[in-house]
Amino acid sequence: MLFLLLPLLAVLLPGGDNENGFEEPVSFHFSVIASIYNRSWTQTLLSGWLGELQIHGWNSSSGTMIFLQPWARGNFSNEEWMELEKALHAHVRRFVQEFRHYAPQLQFEYPIEAQKTGGCELHSGGKSVGFFRIAYQGSDFISFQNNSWLPSPKSGSSAQHVCRFLNQNQHEKKMVQNLLSDTCPRFILGVLEAGKADLQRQVRPEAWLSSGPSPGPSHLLLVCHVSGFYPKSVWVMWIRGEQEQPGTQRGDILPNADGTWYLQVTLDVDTGEAAGLSCRVKHSSLGGQDIVLYWDHHSSRGLIFLAVILLLALLTGLTFWFWKCRARCEPTLCASPFRMRIQ
Ligand SMILES: *[C@@H]1O[C@H](CO)[C@@H](O)[C@H](O)[C@H]1NC(C)=O
Ligand SMILES: *[C@@H]1O[C@H](CO)[C@@H](O)[C@H](O)[C@H]1NC(C)=O
Ligand SMILES: *[C@@H]1O[C@H](CO)[C@@H](O)[C@H](O)[C@H]1NC(C)=O
Ligand SMILES: *[C@@H]1O[C@H](CO)[C@@H](O)[C@H](O)[C@H]1NC(C)=O
Repeated sequence: MLFLLLPLLAVLLPGGDNENGFEEPVSFHFSVIASIYNRSWTQTLLSGWLGELQIHGWNSSSGTMIFLQPWARGNFSNEEWMELEKALHAHVRRFVQEFRHYAPQLQFEYPIEAQKTGGCELHSGGKSVGFFRIAYQGSDFISFQNNSWLPSPKSGSSAQHVCRFLNQNQHEKKMVQNLLSDTCPRFILGVLEAGKADLQRQVRPEAWLSSGPSPGPSHLLLVCHVSGFYPKSVWVMWIRGEQEQPGTQRGDILPNADGTWYLQVTLDVDTGEAAGLSCRVKHSSLGGQDIVLYWDHHSSRGLIFLAVILLLALLTGLTFWFWKCRARCEPTLCASPFRMRIQ
């Protein structure tokens, strides 16, 4: 069935050859984090993620999904969601119960941090790859591959034990397989279509320069800030002429509160070599018109700023002098237009 959807996928997935070779498969995963403090107290956190964007939360008091985007239902009907919610609810409860049940036998110690992540990755060729992993205390424990549970390489004999137990449950294995290979890619296609306007939006970055904390005597840290762009993939480089500067350091791309992204790219240079450098930004929203910011302009702007500050200080001083003068001085000394206007 997925085969029939390939043309749609080709339209929906952003054209693979982005100029920086950033090609991402689209993925969806659901994550369950259970913090099991003791035999009677557990806190669970459920969330659904389209790539790095959280689109689902969970209301644990009502056992229902919280849709964080208006399109986060994809094209699934309310009935299908209710069924999924019910299944998820039961699944999470069983997950916690099993951990508790086997804790003594497996020598698990409270508090237990158990994580379950399942989903799929849809590649631009239309191939879907499912994944399902369980982690214990933050480390991989077991995973679901080729229709069976496998212990993770470093997880030891308790993981083998759990796998042996889980692999006996054919019904559950079939359900997991079905979720990963059918429900998940179908959901991704539906949600990409429903959220198209939002997910394919293009937001132009703003860029500005500053100097960072000095990296040492007679060195400068040039900082190029790029903010407010969407989608995430961006190319930012310090250049001289057309020459990319190999010392360019790229920070992590950080989220802004409005769903756009922020990036900081720095270059450590000798003070004398900052002249002639510029920061170039390429982004899909710019339609080929790169943003180029020149360090020289930035530093001369700094000088102008300083000059303006000095001028303002001078004017303030003068005004103050006149004001004091008006109060105390000989009338002839202060016979200025300033004074006449006041009277
Ligand atoms: C379980 O842990 C919770 C939270 O730490 C605590 O309030 C509660 O008293 C504990 N219960 C037992 C039976 O240890
Ligand atoms: C969660 O469900 C409860 C009970 O149905 C409801 O009162 C509450 O508003 C819900 N919370 C959120 C964040 O949706
Ligand atoms: C799963 O099956 C495929 C093809 O049958 C095989 O190439 C792959 O190695 C298997 N993976 C594991 C982890 O057994
Ligand atoms: C949702 O959209 C996908 C892709 O277009 C389609 O395969 C599926 O049948 C639609 N409906 C449901 C309920 O999944």
